[in-house]
Amino acid sequence: MSQKIRAGILGTGSYLPEKIVTNKDMEKLVDTNDEWIVTRTGIRERHFAADDEFTSDMATKAAQKALESAGLKPTDLDLIIVATITTDMPTPSTACFVQTKLGAPQAAAFDISAACSGFVYGLTIARAFIESGLYKNILLIGAEKLTTFIDWKDRGTCVLFGDGAGAAIIAPVAEGKHEIISTYMAANGTEADLLKIPGGGCRFPSSLESVENRLHTLKMDGKQIFKIAVKVMSDAVLEAAKRANISLEQISLVIPHQANDRIIQAIGERLGVSPDKLFVNVDKIGNTSAASVGIALDDAVKAGKIKDGQYVAFVAFGAGTTLASSIVKW
Ligand code: UT7
Repeated sequence: MSQKIRAGILGTGSYLPEKIVTNKDMEKLVDTNDEWIVTRTGIRERHFAADDEFTSDMATKAAQKALESAGLKPTDLDLIIVATITTDMPTPSTACFVQTKLGAPQAAAFDISAACSGFVYGLTIARAFIESGLYKNILLIGAEKLTTFIDWKDRGTCVLFGDGAGAAIIAPVAEGKHEIISTYMAANGTEADLLKIPGGGCRFPSSLESVENRLHTLKMDGKQIFKIAVKVMSDAVLEAAKRANISLEQISLVIPHQANDRIIQAIGERLGVSPDKLFVNVDKIGNTSAASVGIALDDAVKAGKIKDGQYVAFVAFGAGTTLASSIVKW
């Protein structure tokens, strides 16, 4: 009988653009203040990409670091997956640009669109390709240049977002060695109106009118999203733990999507998980959508927050609405 192939995280990397924008800087752009942003969101600063720095550039830089940490070369890759809602162009995929910039002509490449859940959706997708034996070395990247799609007249959203990229190499591993033990994905399209960039697709094609009506910028019902996020993300952690056949107490670290520290703490309270087991870096990077969990994972690894043999939970929620979670035994 052939042995089961197990998928795991072989290396991680991240990239944040050079320019740091503080809450004080935001005060110059809109009617806001540091105190409101910190108490409502926990965000203190975020990074903005340069005008000539694209999603594929940030993705490539994060990928190079992930490859280095996995001890692989670009030519070792079989597949490149980029999770993003801020593609360089509507087509071709950002993953194809990354393939060229990285120098991995042998790798297949495609994007996934699952908004803030993109990186965790990608864990399921990459895991399935590895466990099926179809591919050996997969590069998964979450990357966003959200500043392109921000409505600078909407103080309720423009203070929240930042740019960046997080990457991981998914490959066959030995049992329990950085192994992806369980994954869960869900979606609820009836909530699609709560968070969207309406223009630029075939429903509202680009036109003078679409630009005048600011249809190409992000619209969000923050209050509703907040309420739903706390409930469904807590439930998703429980679902991933159930699928991994472990208890919540066995989880050493939860790495949630970094949208708002209040959401993260509310998830902890709902689950009975203490704050020291919740990874938070939203204070430094803001909400980077699909890049968020990838960047947080790399930060947690670098900070020595994950030890061999520990169980780590990933969970994310975003536009769609989409929801995803996973348990990895480090
Ligand atoms: O990543 C995908 C998922 N996204 C999320 O998870 C985001 C979820 N939502 C949130 O994080 C929160 O709803 C927000 C941070 C977006 C907003 O916090 P809130 O506590 O729900 O505030 P609110 O929208 O109800 O606004 C409260 C007040 C309003 O003033 P009034 O009507 O009470 O006078 C807003 O006009 O705060 C005002 N406000 C601001 N004031 C200063 C809204 N934005 C700002 C601002 N600065 N930037």
